[in-house]
Order: sequence, then C-alpha cells, then structure tokens
Amino acid sequence: MSAHTGPILEGRGDTDYERYIRVPELLELVKPADKLAHPDERLFQTTHQAAELWLHHIDYEIDRVVELIGGDEVAHAAALLERATRIVNLLRQQIVILETMAPADYHVIRTTSLGRGSGQESPGFAKLLDVGKRLWPPFDELLGRRGASLIEIEITPRTHAEFFRLVQAMVDYDEAFLNSRFTHIRLAFRIIGSKVLSLKGVPASQLELGTREPLFPKLWDTISELTSEHKPSY
Ligand code: HEM
Repeated sequence: MSAHTGPILEGRGDTDYERYIRVPELLELVKPADKLAHPDERLFQTTHQAAELWLHHIDYEIDRVVELIGGDEVAHAAALLERATRIVNLLRQQIVILETMAPADYHVIRTTSLGRGSGQESPGFAKLLDVGKRLWPPFDELLGRRGASLIEIEITPRTHAEFFRLVQAMVDYDEAFLNSRFTHIRLAFRIIGSKVLSLKGVPASQLELGTREPLFPKLWDTISELTSEHKPSY
C-alpha cells in the first residue's frame, strides 16, 4: 500500500471508508445467515434497521427545522423539511420491497424470531408522530411575529413567497407521512390480511385510523377555507 492510500483514521476496518462509516460495527448488527429462522428474515431485519436509521435522521432534521423557524430562517427551514420529505418517500419505497416476501415465510419469522415485538414499538416512528406538535407552535409564533395569516398566504402565495414555500413544505411532509402509513397498511394486509389481530391484539384494520390523522390539520382546513372563499358551484 502506498503512503497516500493507507487509512489515517482510527477504528476497525482496513480502509478509512470502513472506519468512518463503521462498516464492521454496522454489519455486526445483522443476524448471521446460520441464525436466520428463514432466508427472507435477512430482508425483514435489514429493512427495519435501515428504517430506524432514517427515522432517527428525520427526527434530527425536524429539530433543526424547529430551531430555524424560531430564528426566522424561513427558506432554510423549508429546504430542510423538503429534505425530510424525500427521506419519508424513501422509507415508503423501501416498505414495498417486503411485498416480495411470501406470507407463509413471514409467519415462520414472526413465530420464531420476533418475540412480542411490533412496529408499533418503533421509537423512531413514535417521535415522528409528534412532528405536528413540535412544528406548529414555533410556526404559529413566526406568523404572529411577521403579522401574516394562513389564509392571506394562500390567497396571495406570490406576495408571501417565502412563507408559501414553508407552508407547501409542511403540506408535502404531512402528505408523504400519510402516504407512507397507507403503503405500510397495504403491506400489512398483503402479508397478514386485514381481518386478523395484530401482535398487540388490536385489529390490523385499526392501522387505517393513522392515515386520517394529518400532522397539520389547520393547513388542510385553510385550503378548504380558500375554496369556500371562491364560492365554487359544482
Ligand atoms: C412483513 C411486513 C410487515 C407487517 C406484516 C407489518 C404489520 C404491522 C401491523 C399488523 C401493525 C399494527 C400494530 C401491531 O401489530 O402491533 C404494524 C405497525 C407498525 N409497523 Fe409494521 N409491518 C410490517 C413491516 C413494517 C416495516 C418494514 C416497518 C418500518 C418501516 C414497519 C413499521 C411499523 C410501524 C411504525 C407501526 C406502527 C404504525 C402505527 O401505529 O400507525 N412495519 N405493522
């Protein structure tokens, strides 16, 4: 190895890539092939592990968005929320990979490996259920400080371009989160059906309630209000 290519960072692994990314530590978290209840368990575990990392990252970005809104940095807040939305969309896309698993194979994994575990216990997901409560108060205060109202922003989006971008970013995030919950339901129904009890004893169909709970209901109400102001006759 030449003097210019060898690793310079501390850590495990032969290269700085492995040491920085912490590849050896990361791969130790994956169940070894000879311990899997079923070959498809690898996909099941990896999908959930990747989801937890991304959920943790979204939570981090949401904290930054809260801070930026508090500091009147509206465009930067919108940009980070748009980033968070892309990650939620990525999570949604990775959920459907599990639809390639046969329901019978999932039951082997469920009965052998999962204990009483359920996605409902995901700490990353639980934090994201609070995004509405975390973002709304600083957002509302921002509008108050700048003397802007939601309906004014919707009526004249170009006059309030910066605020409108943030409002759109919030609606986009909300919609992506609802869509990902809906996609997860379709996965659950495909793998275990809708007429069964979940691991926690609640009907799997209860998951549908989550697709009707937007994080920012007032934003959606304002869109309805705008439509009413235009007095549509259909
Ligand atoms: C074989 C695939 C899957 C099945 C059959 C399944 C099934 C279910 C069911 C029935 C529930 C209801 C609660 C419970 O059972 O205790 C649930 C909740 C949940 N699952 Fe999954 N799931 C699967 C994959 C995933 C994946 C890949 C993720 C992560 C991205 C995930 C995350 C969650 C979350 C966050 C909840 C709580 C949702 C809520 O309260 O709205 N699940 N899952």
